[in-house]
Amino acid sequence: MWLYLVVLVVLYYLLRWYRERQVVSHLEDKFVFITGCDSGFGNLLARQLDQRGLRVLAACLTEQGAEQLRNQTSDRLQTVILDITQTENVTATTNWVKERVGDRGLWGLVNNAGICTPTAPNEWLTKQDFVKVLDVNLLGVIDVTLSLLSLVRKARGRVVNVSSVLGRVSLSPAGYCISKYGVEAFSDSLRRELSYFGVKVAMIEPGYFVTNMTQDEGFIGYLQALWNWASPELKELYGENFPADFLKTLSLLKPRWTQNLSLVTDCMEHALTACHPRTRYSAGWDAKFIYLPMSYLPSFLVDLIVYCYYPQPAKAL
Ligand SMILES: NC(=O)c1ccc[n+]([C@@H]2O[C@H](COP(=O)([O-])OP(=O)(O)OC[C@H]3O[C@@H](n4cnc5c(N)ncnc54)[C@H](OP(=O)(O)O)[C@@H]3O)[C@@H](O)[C@H]2O)c1
Repeated sequence: MWLYLVVLVVLYYLLRWYRERQVVSHLEDKFVFITGCDSGFGNLLARQLDQRGLRVLAACLTEQGAEQLRNQTSDRLQTVILDITQTENVTATTNWVKERVGDRGLWGLVNNAGICTPTAPNEWLTKQDFVKVLDVNLLGVIDVTLSLLSLVRKARGRVVNVSSVLGRVSLSPAGYCISKYGVEAFSDSLRRELSYFGVKVAMIEPGYFVTNMTQDEGFIGYLQALWNWASPELKELYGENFPADFLKTLSLLKPRWTQNLSLVTDCMEHALTACHPRTRYSAGWDAKFIYLPMSYLPSFLVDLIVYCYYPQPAKAL
């Protein structure tokens, strides 16, 4: 009985491995548009796909980021400046893409741009603090997708949305997890809708990686500013040491964060180039072995784990 089971499992993985190795043809004719290419995963993916021979249309937030990327890549790669929170900018960029891809359509759209601050206890924040994150990570993704969708449909291409393990299990307060849960929900419904037109939608769910986004400076600056604005009541409830304890928790976790960004960009590349891409890609050992299993635990167990590492307010009961 056990032997049959083992054989079945091995057969399943062999079959999956064989299926996933098949690559789409004529990659050199395919256009891929990526947001947030100034740094991190977007930057590495742009360089990686350029080396693979695809035609990369890289959207950067700054001219400096765009220039640096152009200096590191071939003439095939083209850049555009895009702030995904500005609808007029998104519309103009869509026209720019249309001019380049012509009748071929857009093979790949990678919604990668994102931010993660402000991060602090929910009660310290204003509605505007949530809007800031949701505007980039969720509404920006939706706006860019809706704007470029007809071009992707024309090519029967791929939409690759960068979510996070924090879109599967809510481990931190503020807007980030909410935005990534939203990306997951958006991608799920989009995948079903677009399957009728031969378009595939994949989600990338990285664990924690060392990029610009996860640098201490961003967290420290915001936390300090929010603490300065906090009401006397909140300051008394949380205590003067809370911001420092919050950062200490981050610095304890940080040595375990992954440095090898290609674990994420390899998943993105697979989603764009494989004949049979996965629906979800967990990237990083922590995503696979900690956060994803954690997302299936009962809520009280997840709460217990979070209580273990999250700092307590000074006046906790
Ligand atoms: N790092 C992680 O641990 C981790 C884990 C899970 C998921 N992710 C997700 O991975 C994606 C990429 O993040 P990353 O880690 O590579 O961080 P990153 O290096 O900060 O990259 C984010 C990129 O988005 C750009 N960006 C920010 N706001 C934008 C806007 N309004 N319009 C257009 N572009 C904008 C940034 O430009 P500037 O550099 O000029 O600000 C930057 O190029 C994000 O969606 C993030 O949520 C990251």
